[in-house]
Amino acid sequence: MTCSARIECQTAGPEQTMSLGAALGDMAAPNDVFGLTGTLGAGKTCLVKGMARGLGVADSRRVISPTFVLLRRYEGCLTLYHFDAYRLDDAEAMEDIGCAELFEAGGVSVVEWADHVDGCLPPEHFRVSIRVTGSSRRDFAIEGVGDGPSDRMEELRHRLAPWSADS
Ligand SMILES: Nc1ncnc2c1ncn2[C@@H]1O[C@H](COP(=O)(O)OP(=O)(O)O)[C@@H](O)[C@H]1O
Ligand SMILES: [Mg+2]
Repeated sequence: MTCSARIECQTAGPEQTMSLGAALGDMAAPNDVFGLTGTLGAGKTCLVKGMARGLGVADSRRVISPTFVLLRRYEGCLTLYHFDAYRLDDAEAMEDIGCAELFEAGGVSVVEWADHVDGCLPPEHFRVSIRVTGSSRRDFAIEGVGDGPSDRMEELRHRLAPWSADS
């Protein structure tokens, strides 16, 4: 078994990506922050829909991209803060909406286009990079940044085994 700190997964359609997201949402703990990267249409919002489902958000299918509002909030077992930094070129606008406080408000935060706001994510977070590898195929690379997330990678690897690219 590989012991790399990076978990690689694959999905073959939006439903599988939502299930992968649900597994992430299910293991998420208060104050977890996830930074998502990937081109337009990669599947970031699709993954967040699944995370909402995993977090017990009542109508997770209604999760839509917060592109124009920067932030949407959904109530589940934990509050889901869904940020979209597509229109931002730096961390300042994210800071203006109070992301630092929200990251520590006891919910779970997910930031689409995290690469647009490098520097505003907390020192500890999970990074999910999505690559389009076919019309319905997507590759996911999940990394834990900082001690807390790194220590949870083995557990995460078990939970994400159904989508593992190694198997
Ligand atoms: N394996 C897959 N995972 C996620 N989305 C997929 C997949 N295959 C096809 N798609 C399609 O790709 C699009 C992803 O859209 P979306 O999640 O809004 O992307 P993003 O938020 O990254 O811009 C949707 O139209 C979805 O149906
Ligand atoms: Mg999106």
